[in-house]
Amino acid sequence: MTVTVSRKAHFNAAHRLYRPDWADEKNEEIFGKCNNPLYHGHNYELIVHITGEIDSSTGYVMDMKVLKDLIKAEVEDAFDHKNLNEQVPEFANLNPTAENIAVVIWNKLRPHISADQQLEVTLFETPRNYVHYKG
Ligand code: NI
Repeated sequence: MTVTVSRKAHFNAAHRLYRPDWADEKNEEIFGKCNNPLYHGHNYELIVHITGEIDSSTGYVMDMKVLKDLIKAEVEDAFDHKNLNEQVPEFANLNPTAENIAVVIWNKLRPHISADQQLEVTLFETPRNYVHYKG
């Protein structure tokens, strides 16, 4: 039986969306409020989904304590209360949109998930705006 288990997590972070190779006017036109040169914050809500077979010995797809600790180590400790542009190396040359943050999170978690399990990431940037990445 294949089952999906999910774990919710949370981090607060600041970002600025802009391209240094675009003029100020174009950055303002494309990114609007998210182009604020002095940054702004979001309360990000993350859901990590693991899909796989139920282990017949434990009854688990994955031990949720292991998943909780993995998300803390790879995502919360790296992103929480950080300026993503300035303090998280993955975004030094990558616009920290919700889309790109979700892909970065997926790439950080994937090596730690069993090869026979599927990983998906849902990231809420606001209560109404969210992205989903399946790899
Ligand atoms: Ni923003």
